Amino acid sequence: MLRTEAKLLWTLLRGQPRSGSLKRRLEGFYAPQASRYDNFRERLLHGRAEMLAALELAPGQRVLELGGGTARNLEFYANLIPKLASVQVVDLCGPLLTQARHRCARWTNVYVTEADATVFRPPEQVDRLYFSYALTMMPKWRKAIDNAWQMLKPGGMLGVVDFYVSGPPPTPGERVHHWLTRQFWPRWFAHDGVYLEPERLRYLMQRFEVLILQEDSGSIPYLPGLCVPYFQLIARKPDMPLSRQSVYGITQ
Ligand SMILES: C[S@@+](CC[C@H](N)C(=O)[O-])C[C@H]1O[C@@H](n2cnc3c(N)ncnc32)[C@H](O)[C@@H]1O
Repeated sequence: MLRTEAKLLWTLLRGQPRSGSLKRRLEGFYAPQASRYDNFRERLLHGRAEMLAALELAPGQRVLELGGGTARNLEFYANLIPKLASVQVVDLCGPLLTQARHRCARWTNVYVTEADATVFRPPEQVDRLYFSYALTMMPKWRKAIDNAWQMLKPGGMLGVVDFYVSGPPPTPGERVHHWLTRQFWPRWFAHDGVYLEPERLRYLMQRFEVLILQEDSGSIPYLPGLCVPYFQLIARKPDMPLSRQSVYGITQ
């Protein structure tokens, strides 16, 4: 137990490989920790259950997770899965998908697919789509958000939970983080290929109609007393395109 935890900490300290394709970098980072991934992330990835509860999953829906990793999030709504039309879990990282396939073998309507979130397309548009701590690991995050838009039905809902820091000029409606928070966490996480710039949240708010934005901060294993900011967003793909000036005053 202690040995495996130490091994996992070592892979985090070593960070994500700097060269090679995104798939190679993700696999280099996650392969040594895949079997311990869920246990450690339970203490790090806050707000996932809450985001999924707010997403209002309901019988008959098609649900898609982009960057779904080990498919851990499906456990949060496991009782509902047999009543859903389908659940699709998409990720680029082979070793995490192996864990996902073991987990999902008990469901006949869950599909685990190895693909890049920026280009993947399901056979039909979906009712609910979510990113859980995945956008911060996607270098082409704008493309992933644009692709999510295309995959959602009009009126469909998007859920996102992720780390972030606010910009120096705050977006109206957003918290303003202390200068030290804005300097420390982006540097700390970048080592593991996780990027916390405020632009992701801004772009999401610009692209979708925001229903709920909740900002909070959560503890980090082995860093007592320190908390990292994260947000939960529930948004809707409008039936009609949003006007150039959204309710948050961000010009597209
Ligand atoms: C921090 S993990 C989160 C996993 C899972 N969503 C969770 O909440 O436990 C981020 C995931 O995003 C995946 N990922 C990063 N870039 C990706 C891309 N372009 N396409 C698909 N998956 C990607 C990684 O392989 C990893 O599994």
